[in-house]
Amino acid sequence: MTVQTNLGGSFTFANTAMTVNRMGYGAMQLAGPQVWGAPRDPVEAVRVLREAIDAGVNHIDTSDFYGPHVTNQIIKQALHPYQDGLVIVTKVGARRGADKSWTHALTRQELIDAVHDNLRNLGLEKLDVVNLRVGEVLKPSEGSIEEPLTVLAELQCQGLIRHLGLSNVTPRQLAQAQTISQIVCVQNFFNIAQRDDDAFVDELAAQGVAYVPFFPLGGFTPLQSSELDTVAESVSATPMQIALTWLLHRAPNILLIPGTSSVKHLRENLQAASLQLPPETIGKLDSIAAGG
Ligand SMILES: NC(=O)c1ccc[n+]([C@@H]2O[C@H](COP(=O)([O-])OP(=O)(O)OC[C@H]3O[C@@H](n4cnc5c(N)ncnc54)[C@H](OP(=O)(O)O)[C@@H]3O)[C@@H](O)[C@H]2O)c1
Repeated sequence: MTVQTNLGGSFTFANTAMTVNRMGYGAMQLAGPQVWGAPRDPVEAVRVLREAIDAGVNHIDTSDFYGPHVTNQIIKQALHPYQDGLVIVTKVGARRGADKSWTHALTRQELIDAVHDNLRNLGLEKLDVVNLRVGEVLKPSEGSIEEPLTVLAELQCQGLIRHLGLSNVTPRQLAQAQTISQIVCVQNFFNIAQRDDDAFVDELAAQGVAYVPFFPLGGFTPLQSSELDTVAESVSATPMQIALTWLLHRAPNILLIPGTSSVKHLRENLQAASLQLPPETIGKLDSIAAGG
C-alpha cells in the first residue's frame, strides 16, 4: 500500500511538539474475542498494524489491559523499533479479572505497575501519552481524580511519561486535572449516534485539547442506521466511512482511532479521510446525528 496523502489533515496537541494525522488507529480489536487472549488471526493482526503505518498512520491507541498485555505485545512485534513521529497513546486505571471483567485499578501501586507494564510490553523507555481512565465502562462518573492523576504526574516528572490525557471524564474532572498537570487529550464515548459530549467537544476545541472518541463506529456492535445507509449509498461510500467522515467534520480537535482486526476494514476506514461530502450531505448527517 502507498502512503495515503490525506489522513484528515494533522493536529498539533496544544503546547507540545507532538503532531499526528487526524486519522489514527485503535488497537483494542487486535486481542481475542472480548478483548481477551491471543488474536483470532495473529498474522492478520501484524499485517493490520504494518499496513496502517505504511499508509501514514502515526497515532495508535492501546492499553496493556487489552488482552491483557496481548495488544501491546503485538504492537511491539509488528512495529518495534518504532519509526520517528509515531505517537503511541496508552491508558491505565483498569485491570481485567480472571472472568474477563473490567475493574478499576487506580491505587498508587496499580498505576505504577501499569506504567511499567506498558513500558516493558511496548519496548519503550518513555510513554508518549498516558490516559488516566476513570468512570464507568461507557460513561464518566463525577468524583475527584486528584489522587490517581498525581501519581501519574510524579511518573511524568521521573521521565517515564511525556504527556498526560484522560478517559471517561466530565468537564469538571478535566478542570480539576488541569490544576495538577497539562492534559493533552480526552478520550470519551462519542459517535454520530452518541452525542452526550457535544458541548465538551467544543470546549476542548477552544482549548486546543484533542478529543479522541472511543467507539467511533459504535464499538463491538457497529452502528446500524438506515439513514446512514442511504447517505452512504448516495456518495458511493460505506456507512462506516460516513460515520468517520462526519466525525472529522464535527470539530478540528477530533482525532479518530477506529478499531479493526481486518486489513480490508482498515483500508476502508483510512479512505474515509479522503471522502469529499457535499455540504447538503453534511447537513443531512448533522440532522441524523441530532435525531432529526
Ligand atoms: N477509553 C476507553 O474506555 C475505551 C473504550 C473502548 C475503546 N477504546 C479505544 O477506542 C478504539 C476504537 O474503539 P473500538 O475498536 O472498540 O470500536 P469501533 O472503532 O467503534 O468499532 C470497532 C468494531 O467495528 C468493526 N469495524 C471496523 N471497521 C469496520 C468497517 N470498515 N466495516 C465494518 N465493520 C468495521 C470492527 O470489526 P472488525 O475487527 O471485524 O473490523 C469492530 O467490531 C479501541 O481500539 C480502543 O483503542 C477506548
